[in-house]
Amino acid sequence: MKREIKKILLIGADGQLGTDLKKMFSNSYKLFCPLVKELDITKFDKVREYIAQNTPDLIINTAAFHQVDECEKNPQKSFLVNTTAVKNLAEICREKDISLVHISTDYVFGLDKKRRIPYTEDDLPGPINIYGISKLAGEYCIRYILEKYFIIRPAALFGVAGPKGKKENFVELMLRLAQEKEEVKVKNDEFTTPTYTKELAENITKLIKTQEYGIYHMTSQGECSWYEFTKKIFELTNTKVNCQPVSSDEFLMTAKRPHYSVLENKHLKEIGLDKMSHWKEALEKYLKEKGHIK
Ligand SMILES: NC(=O)c1ccc[n+]([C@@H]2O[C@H](COP(=O)([O-])OP(=O)(O)OC[C@H]3O[C@@H](n4cnc5c(N)ncnc54)[C@H](OP(=O)(O)O)[C@@H]3O)[C@@H](O)[C@H]2O)c1
Repeated sequence: MKREIKKILLIGADGQLGTDLKKMFSNSYKLFCPLVKELDITKFDKVREYIAQNTPDLIINTAAFHQVDECEKNPQKSFLVNTTAVKNLAEICREKDISLVHISTDYVFGLDKKRRIPYTEDDLPGPINIYGISKLAGEYCIRYILEKYFIIRPAALFGVAGPKGKKENFVELMLRLAQEKEEVKVKNDEFTTPTYTKELAENITKLIKTQEYGIYHMTSQGECSWYEFTKKIFELTNTKVNCQPVSSDEFLMTAKRPHYSVLENKHLKEIGLDKMSHWKEALEKYLKEKGHIK
């Protein structure tokens, strides 16, 4: 039987997605939003103690070590935060009969270089970098330990708060580069679906009210290359700059990135909860919310 959700522990509440989830939940639930200094998910005994004291009915884990190149340089930290800490959370959830919402990633895919149709939840993952491997291992720990879980795979997030671990999200980066440079070069051979954290948070809010546990792809509709995404950002904000499509080989990156990691929200559609809009529409909403356009 599903336990009624009254108290939620939101991990990573001041992050990009966490900020929107916090706004969404604050009126309807008693929320615990510890900062990393109050609850670091890699401090296992502290996590156990915190959960025992506050007795949440649901835990949402948005925390991750997700700077993809840094993960490649520091696999120990990557596996500690993205795998072992997740395993620990899942074990506590099993002991206390708490449901777990865990945010994963489209980067669990990428091995199939010829792929050009969206991945569904039924496709076998195949990550191509340490970040993706460590996140996938985290997913497998949850699936092995727990029954009441929602594993959510979003992609290419942009939200008003901006990512905590990076200076800015991709939209803000492109707008800044357009101010600083005469020419902006953007990869045109990596395809994804940019996803607005506010819409993602809205969908998560609906999903947690169900008992439809499992893995969910949760991205905006459609797909584009990073170049196509950038062109749309500049078009909507009326930004005049020379924007050039280039191959990903032009950028020296430590970690490999998937050429195609587009996801289909198949499981969400099956339960009638796929309310995500097209990425172009979501981008326009974001630009308005951020005050870039009227
Ligand atoms: N950003 C993307 O494009 C993208 C795409 C696909 C999937 N995802 C996934 O989506 C999730 C949310 O991404 P986001 O962009 O919202 O990330 P974010 O802005 O970096 O937020 C992550 C939050 O987790 C906290 N955190 C990190 N390590 C922690 C730890 N050891 N213990 C407790 N809290 C910790 C961070 O706090 P501090 O900064 O203070 O450490 C921050 O508040 C992540 O799981 C990521 O893997 C992201």
